[in-house]
Amino acid sequence: MDARELLYEGKAKKVYKTDDPQQLLVSYKDDATAFNGLKKGSIQGKGSVNNRMTNFLMQKLEQQGIPTHFVRQLSDTDTLVKRVSIVPLEVIVRNIAAGSLSKRLGLPEGTPLQQTVLEYCYKDDALGDPMVNEYHIAAMGWASDEEMRTIADYALRINDFLCSHLKGVNVDLIDFKLEFGRLPDGTIILADEISPDTCRFWDSTTHEKLDKDRFRRDMGGVEGAYQEMMKRLLGA
Ligand code: TMP
Repeated sequence: MDARELLYEGKAKKVYKTDDPQQLLVSYKDDATAFNGLKKGSIQGKGSVNNRMTNFLMQKLEQQGIPTHFVRQLSDTDTLVKRVSIVPLEVIVRNIAAGSLSKRLGLPEGTPLQQTVLEYCYKDDALGDPMVNEYHIAAMGWASDEEMRTIADYALRINDFLCSHLKGVNVDLIDFKLEFGRLPDGTIILADEISPDTCRFWDSTTHEKLDKDRFRRDMGGVEGAYQEMMKRLLGA
């Protein structure tokens, strides 16, 4: 796997081709951005935490019957994944109001929602990932109705699993973002990552934030929060 050919560099990960056309190598970076790249920085050890936490959770989800792109962890920061064509949507799952939902609806952060909320954003940095609904998705042909039923079903099942697993380590899952992809035969599988970059984790007792909001909001203690989540989930 030497002289790897870079296929794509994102804000937090690099993606390389491998000898197998069906598989890619994802390399997690310590680079951090927020507000669509306007804020830039680095979180020491983030690449390793996000890689290992994502792989740990994806393996657990596979055991729950959720197909994922995970193939094999290669190192602290590198993982082999199945090559997919990404459904160009950010799927956001919310249990408690925070972030952009709190802003949009004027809800204090921490307000419980009476039921889980699913939101979709069209993945387009130039447009700032605008929120869209199922009608837009069907009208633009980004995913079929059947694919969206699968995606919503998986997102809610992933939420149930993550909420109960995190409860066991005294963490509330406030909200999170998922991305899905299609295998060549059309099967929908979970892709991207599940990490403190893409989830809001609050300590259940103190409500302390243990996620990227500490970076977004200049709260300090960013590295410590990532390590704390790692310790609670993987004991390492
Ligand atoms: P939001 O409240 O800013 O819309 O974020 C909702 C969730 O989605 C939160 O857990 C952070 C995550 N998220 C990403 O993973 N990537 C993004 O680009 C944004 C804006 C949010």
